Amino acid sequence: MALRLGDTAPNFTATTTEGTIDFHTWLGTSWGVLFSHPADYTPVCTTELGTVARIKDDFEKRNVKVIAVSVDPIDSHHGWIKDINETQRCSMNFPVIADPDRSVATAYDMIHPNVDDKATVRSVFVIGPDKKIKLTLTYPASTGRNFLEILRVIDSLQLTAKHKLATPADWQQGNDCIVSMAVSDADAEKLFPQGVRRVRPYLRYTAQPAS
Ligand code: BEZ
Repeated sequence: MALRLGDTAPNFTATTTEGTIDFHTWLGTSWGVLFSHPADYTPVCTTELGTVARIKDDFEKRNVKVIAVSVDPIDSHHGWIKDINETQRCSMNFPVIADPDRSVATAYDMIHPNVDDKATVRSVFVIGPDKKIKLTLTYPASTGRNFLEILRVIDSLQLTAKHKLATPADWQQGNDCIVSMAVSDADAEKLFPQGVRRVRPYLRYTAQPAS
């Protein structure tokens, strides 16, 4: 069955390019991003892994661990990583799971048989420190993902986990936020002393809190 927001991210033990891991233990108290690749030695996947390696610091700053999965075996991953490093101006710095029996891909419903009954689609799962799924994305094999968008969503997830806020369309760090509908006007004034701009009873903005 498909995984839904709020579900516990399935745990697994897997061989990765950085050794064997128990997924939940590896996550520890961090946030996590688990993302799938249809196959090794493929062009779009090569650019995606290179991109994530180059911006890994941006995930770390947010206390997020990144991990990729591809259904190819570990020897294939090690060879492919040499190519990624050579072609993508990067040094691979996060684990890639080898999933030849497709157990991880199956647990996370990453194989969509009406597209391909063996390779995964491009799935993304953002997992919170409570091991619950906070975001899912599914892209086709032909479209590389925008990892800056994934960082943007993580900023929103972390902000809205801490404050009674939501973020509007195309929100970026530092932009005004939306006061949650569950908060009364009186409470909003107390919670957000920086001020609340009331456009409609249901549409109230406030500056992003400093922390
Ligand atoms: C790619 O990464 O370029 C790719 C992988 C599988 C199918 C199509 C494209």
